[in-house]
Amino acid sequence: MVKVLFIDDDPQAHATLRVVLPEPYVLLSAYTGRQGVETAAREGPDVVLLDINLPDMDGLRALRLIASRPLAPPVIMLTAFSQPRVVKESILAGACDYIVKPFEAAELLGTLRTAVAGADARRAAAGEVTDALMQGMIGESAGMRELKELIRRYAPSDSPVLVLGESGTGKERAARLIHDASRRRDGPCVAVNCGALPATLLESELFGAEKGAFTDAVSRPGSFERADGGTLFLDEVGEMSPAAQASLLRVIEQKELTRVGGTRTIPLDVRVVSASNRDLKTDVSAGRFRADLFYRLGVLPIRVPSLRERPGDIPLLAVHFLCQMGSKSRTLSDGARERLLGYSWPGNIRELRSVMERAALAADGDEIRPCHLIFD
Ligand SMILES: Nc1ncnc2c1ncn2[C@@H]1O[C@H](COP(=O)(O)OP(=O)(O)OP(=O)(O)O)[C@@H](O)[C@H]1O
Ligand SMILES: [Mg+2]
Repeated sequence: MVKVLFIDDDPQAHATLRVVLPEPYVLLSAYTGRQGVETAAREGPDVVLLDINLPDMDGLRALRLIASRPLAPPVIMLTAFSQPRVVKESILAGACDYIVKPFEAAELLGTLRTAVAGADARRAAAGEVTDALMQGMIGESAGMRELKELIRRYAPSDSPVLVLGESGTGKERAARLIHDASRRRDGPCVAVNCGALPATLLESELFGAEKGAFTDAVSRPGSFERADGGTLFLDEVGEMSPAAQASLLRVIEQKELTRVGGTRTIPLDVRVVSASNRDLKTDVSAGRFRADLFYRLGVLPIRVPSLRERPGDIPLLAVHFLCQMGSKSRTLSDGARERLLGYSWPGNIRELRSVMERAALAADGDEIRPCHLIFD
């Protein structure tokens, strides 16, 4: 099924197109610019046919609204007669092609096919980007392979992801990978550490504040607004106060916010990825974390395994960090390998990295030996 969204105020044109479009095309109809923009956001069409003359808004404006969204579909403009200036402007604003009315069915089908094929090729290229990104994620263990598979599967969706795992396991890394592998990759990825700020400051940090709220001298956007069109990473989400949890739930559910001390509602297009090293389920049972928020944040759950659960990855990561530090020719002695495998790694990958940094400085030869490994 290839969904074609046709935005045109002439009902007759819709009737004609319905007859002309063969399978696998399916026609979605919108008769005003506003309706078209909404349908594009809601239905995720594969391609859009957009009339330049609309009753309620300039076709160029509708184009900008549609084409500026992440993973925007290709947009083909329909112009009543050849208007070179408008055509040029629409291409600059993100249209992929144009057709001059009246047009032949064959011409339309050819243009549709080219536009959809171009979008498919871009998606395939995005898949390759994901492959390349995954290469930097070191680990061949079953747990790590499963993690990479989940990241790959979750990335294209807009649903919230909750990343759980011990400290230093790579939660933030996983969160950023989800952003980079998603259609939001060209948008912002904003991180907020929810454990680092007192409750009232956290709310204005997240939701922004209007002049005069508390002691704010100026109005300013919060992290949610700055993450519009992209991803908001809420680190240590388990540390939020009950009040902030309630506000967060409201903003996520309503997809809009009101700044602290403000009245205007601001619509949002933000994907939320949160992380915690706490056992949030236990926090929910104990009444420390709202159950409804927990389920809302954790629509797509990911658990990053600790190093103890995947000892096979320890030597791989150790050598990887040596390489990163410019010690490409260096190897681990059998004794060093054994010592690394025998340790419990409470600080996980972050701790392993600092142990290897120290070892690289301590060793003088090509081999890292047990005496170079100093644990915290
Ligand atoms: N699979 C991996 N391959 C290589 N490096 C990794 C991998 N996972 C994490 N790292 C590195 O380990 C360090 C810790 O990762 P990160 O900050 O993502 O962990 P975290 O779980 O968020 O930690 P904390 O709980 O302390 O916030 C970072 O330097 C990160 O780049
Ligand atoms: Mg972290």
